[in-house]
Amino acid sequence: MRKPHPTDPQWSDVTPRAMFVNRRALMLGAGAFALAGPATAATPSRFSVTEPPTERSAITSYNNFYEFGFAKEDPARHAGKMKTDPWAVQIDGLVDRPGSYDLADVMKNQPLEERIYRLRCVEAWSMIVPWIGFELAGLLNRVGVQPSAKYVAFETLVDPETMPGVRGRNLAYPYVEGLRLDEAMNPLTILATGLYGDPLPNQNGAPIRLVVPWKYGFKSIKSIVRISLVADEPPTTWSAAQPSEYGFYANVNPQVDHPRWSQASERRVGDGLFAKRRETLMFNGYADEVAGLYAGMDLAKFY
Ligand code: MTE
Repeated sequence: MRKPHPTDPQWSDVTPRAMFVNRRALMLGAGAFALAGPATAATPSRFSVTEPPTERSAITSYNNFYEFGFAKEDPARHAGKMKTDPWAVQIDGLVDRPGSYDLADVMKNQPLEERIYRLRCVEAWSMIVPWIGFELAGLLNRVGVQPSAKYVAFETLVDPETMPGVRGRNLAYPYVEGLRLDEAMNPLTILATGLYGDPLPNQNGAPIRLVVPWKYGFKSIKSIVRISLVADEPPTTWSAAQPSEYGFYANVNPQVDHPRWSQASERRVGDGLFAKRRETLMFNGYADEVAGLYAGMDLAKFY
């Protein structure tokens, strides 16, 4: 992937000075924690659910990351070869300060939070994941979103050398996803850099991936190299591949079935083979925070 270049804009250039200083003070206030990495630097969040997290081994070994193959065990098997350092994220389109930002630089003064979220996959399984991350809104505000921007488009790394799925062309790459700007700005929407107190394992989307807990798992794009602010609804990998099955919104909705199976219930990974399925909750249980975003919309049409 592209290496950061000395003439690239520096993250400190887009961070207002006062905020930069405050952040430093915050991090220094946290003492040695700041140096110890995400595990101890993260603070808990009011957005976390209280259910016990799914076992780490399940979260890191039962994955979808098609760049590494279709089988659930392929990402854990193959993603180790992906190079995640150095890493740059291109932020472009309708923003005041576009550029290729070095991730290490972005993370230097970025306080992190632990967010324990439900994850509901379109295939009707679910997990509880203790993510480490920060709100996407904070990053977008710092680069300056222009008034004409209405959507945010995301793109994953494409590296045929380390990604066997990309060589096999099992889907169109790069993997792309998108959110409406108000969805992107919602405080539940985070960029995650860690889980279970450690940096993200490659199979979970290292070094930085999106997490949108009220939408099916496929919206949470991994290993992001580009974030673009755009005026029109951007294409998304799954809705381009199977438009009748996957829409742009992909909100968790027990009342709108997938054409080939019901979305009314789910199997919680770790519950055991004979455990009762759980009822799927509207917006995955986050309706209080996000139902207002869709007031007046026909969610059977905008699925
Ligand atoms: N991102 C990329 N780049 N490629 C993918 O294949 N799969 C998605 C999403 N993000 C995917 C992706 C799907 S279908 C799911 S369910 C989640 O990642 C699962 O990953 P997680 O268990 O690490 O959240």
